[in-house]
Amino acid sequence: MNSAPQIPLNFRRRTASEMLQRAEALAAEMSGRRSVREFSPDPLPAGVLDACIRMAGSAPSGAHQQPWTFVVVTEPDLKRQIRAAAEEEERLNYGGRMNEEWIDALRPFQTDANKEFLETAPALIILFRQAHGLDAEGNKIQHYYTNESIGIALGFLISALHQAGIASLTHTPSPLKFLEPLLSRPSNERAYMLLPVGYPSADCQVPDLERKALDEIRVDR
Ligand SMILES: Cc1cc2nc3c(=O)[nH]c(=O)nc-3n(C[C@H](O)[C@H](O)[C@H](O)COP(=O)(O)O)c2cc1C
Repeated sequence: MNSAPQIPLNFRRRTASEMLQRAEALAAEMSGRRSVREFSPDPLPAGVLDACIRMAGSAPSGAHQQPWTFVVVTEPDLKRQIRAAAEEEERLNYGGRMNEEWIDALRPFQTDANKEFLETAPALIILFRQAHGLDAEGNKIQHYYTNESIGIALGFLISALHQAGIASLTHTPSPLKFLEPLLSRPSNERAYMLLPVGYPSADCQVPDLERKALDEIRVDR
């Protein structure tokens, strides 16, 4: 088996105070991120989504198979079709497919089957997981740890968007299968997440949530 050529690692060791300052600043910046469900229709500046998707594509992945595709939808008629199909699934979800406990857990977010934001947001990013690869002849190539890999890429994407000044929502009108034919995806791709992205509307409100404190989520041994 061939091994990849090795190159020197480009890594800068920082001073302790620089590390602390950078880590604290990033934690403060990211703690301001909120899921947004009311968007302004204002378009985003050219190039910003490309840079955010480039950052998402820098995520680590099992055997470096990079099992992801990011589809960006800005075309109004396609957004309308996605909204209609998502609302159809959500009507079934809210109408009985989710049990009472699940509906109760969602109550603080005041969500329902109406997904206006799928048309209002200037762009939708749909993240597809490549369950396996396809070679030039269309044969299957085994992929490893695709769920773990795509979750990390999604985290990178949300982080990049927030730091670029773009709000997003991790939206799951499940099952997301309807997105595969609508966006003409190949047979190896599974819709993983639907993210409306843009600026929040001027009067956007978000639920007043508390996050767990550090001592609730960190354990030292
Ligand atoms: C996997 C996942 C699926 C989610 N699905 C939805 C969804 O379909 N609709 C929605 O309004 N919010 C959805 N959310 C957003 C959560 O409700 C939100 O992240 C949580 O309430 C915390 O709020 P914050 O993101 O503002 O910190 C989802 C979040 C995750 C991580």
